[in-house]
Amino acid sequence: MNTVKTIRELRSAVARARSQGKRIGFVPTMGNLHAGHVALVTKAAQQADFVVASIFVNPLQFGPSEDLDKYPRTLAADQEKLLQAGCNLLFAPGVDEMYPDGMSAQTLVSVPRVSQGLCGASRPGHFDGVATVVSKLFNMVQPDLAVFGQKDYQQLAVIRAVVRDLNMPIKIIGEPTVRDSHGLALSSRNGYLNPEQLAVAPVLYRTLKAVADAIRGGERDYPQLLARYAEQIRAAGLLPEYLEIRHAHDLRPATELDRDLVILVAAALGKTRLIDNLHLELDA
Ligand code: PAF
Repeated sequence: MNTVKTIRELRSAVARARSQGKRIGFVPTMGNLHAGHVALVTKAAQQADFVVASIFVNPLQFGPSEDLDKYPRTLAADQEKLLQAGCNLLFAPGVDEMYPDGMSAQTLVSVPRVSQGLCGASRPGHFDGVATVVSKLFNMVQPDLAVFGQKDYQQLAVIRAVVRDLNMPIKIIGEPTVRDSHGLALSSRNGYLNPEQLAVAPVLYRTLKAVADAIRGGERDYPQLLARYAEQIRAAGLLPEYLEIRHAHDLRPATELDRDLVILVAAALGKTRLIDNLHLELDA
């Protein structure tokens, strides 16, 4: 596996693979890779002949009070994991390569509707930062397909909207969330949790499953149901930011008539913000 830092080197390596008739798969990341990322690369390697991954901690998607500076940078360990998972090329640019004129001069990609609410409410500008950097990376790599985790459900919806609205010929694959043995969704931010916090964090997934069971059991008073379960999260020592039931495709608030649902949660555990979700399809 080769690691390149410039767009010029990236383009020439991808052009070489393409001239050999290879189908290009792409996995954008911010590094500090765990088994969830490995699953994305493995999926890309199953679906494509040449897999490109990127590691770029994108300042444009971090708010001023967020964890940009302390976000873990673990390049050597990440390279090893990517190699094992079947990655052929790693693109690891610096900020100047991605934003040569600075971030305030950067053209932005902004996705209305699906970016609003949920994480978009507490992280203003976050999804513009994600949509912009992913669009840039897509233009640099020009992959046939790209793989993202379903754990960042709203992010995946934003990226699907970008690709659809800007007519990018890229197949977007959403890969199921990888969890630890207690049900906690793997995330680079789990590394911020101490052992006591790690023990209580799985309450989020238990809550999602309990809400899904209640809906399957016929409960349709969603505001009442969600208030009850938000209380359960609070009782476990987390501060719920949202617990919502949305339509799985366009993320509009679900009505009792909707059948394809996603239950989404965000909560703070100490200084760490955790998110999770559960897709739920009811019989028609
Ligand atoms: O999910 C992530 O790691 C990031 O948001 C992404 C998609 C790599 C864009 O910076």
